Amino acid sequence: MKKVLILTGHSQGLGKAIAELYLENPDFEVVGISRRSSGIDHDRLSEISLDLSDLTAVQSHLDSLFPEGRFEEVFLINNAGWIGEIKPLEMVDPSNIIKAQNVNFTSPSLITGAFVRKYKGNQTKKTICNISSGLAYRPESGLSGYCSSKAALAMQSEILAMEADEDTQVFSVAPGVVDTGMQDDLRDTSPEQFPKHQAFVNLKESGALVTPVAAAKKIKYMLDNAAEFPDVVQDIRKF
Ligand SMILES: NC(=O)c1ccc[n+]([C@@H]2O[C@H](COP(=O)([O-])OP(=O)(O)OC[C@H]3O[C@@H](n4cnc5c(N)ncnc54)[C@H](OP(=O)(O)O)[C@@H]3O)[C@@H](O)[C@H]2O)c1
Repeated sequence: MKKVLILTGHSQGLGKAIAELYLENPDFEVVGISRRSSGIDHDRLSEISLDLSDLTAVQSHLDSLFPEGRFEEVFLINNAGWIGEIKPLEMVDPSNIIKAQNVNFTSPSLITGAFVRKYKGNQTKKTICNISSGLAYRPESGLSGYCSSKAALAMQSEILAMEADEDTQVFSVAPGVVDTGMQDDLRDTSPEQFPKHQAFVNLKESGALVTPVAAAKKIKYMLDNAAEFPDVVQDIRKF
C-alpha cells in the first residue's frame, strides 16, 4: 500500500531536501505546498501553489490538500516558515505582524486540523511533524513574530499529541541551524535592527550551518524510527 507525505514549504531549503529524500522511496506520493514550484520534475510529486499568509485561500483549499484513498501511512510535515520582518515590533509593518503568525502558526493549525479530520479513524498510521526552532524557546530581539509563532506551534504540538488517537504520533522538531534562505535573511539584516546579527554571520563563517540535505536526513531518520523518539519535542542536534 502507498504512503503519502504532505509537506509545506517544499520549494526551497529544508523542505525541498525533504521532498527529494522522500521521492527516492517508490512507496511515497508527495504533495508539496508552497507559493512557488520546487522545479522538481517527478511523477510522484503533486505541487499545490498556495500562499499560507492568506487564510481565506488556505481555508478554501483545505479539502483539496489531502489525497483520497487508503494508505499504509500518512505524514504531514508543516515545514513552511517565514522569519518575518526582522526589527523591533513597533517598526514592523502591521501586515507583516499578521503574515508571520499566519505562515508560521495559523495556517499550520488549519492544515493540521483538516489532516486529522481527513484521516481519523481509518486505522492508517498518521504522523504530524511540525518544524520548530530553538527560537521557540529562546527570545531574540528583532524576531518577536518568528519566536512567538514558533512557540505557539511548539505548544500546540504538545496539545495535539494529548488529543491524538493511538494511530497518530506528533513531533515538534528543531532542525538546528541550516544553510538556507532563512539564514541569508538573518545575516542580511543590519545590527541596528537585529542585535544578534554578528552571531549569525559567525555561524556561516565558522562552518556551523548544516546542509539542508543533512538536516532532512535526520528528520527522516526520526520519522522512520519513531518508536525511538517517544517525546513530542525533538532537536536533531541531539541524535
Ligand atoms: N534555516 C534554519 O537555520 C532554521 C532553523 C530553525 C528552524 N527552521 C525552520 O525550518 C523550516 C524551513 O525553513 P528554511 O530554512 O528551509 O527556509 P527557506 O529556505 O526560507 O524556505 C522557506 C519555505 O517556506 C515556504 N514559505 C514561506 N512563506 C510562505 C507562504 N507565505 N506561503 C507558502 N509557503 C511559504 C517557502 O516557499 P515559497 O517561497 O515558494 O512560498 C519555502 O519553501 C521553517 O519552518 C523554519 O522556521 C530553519
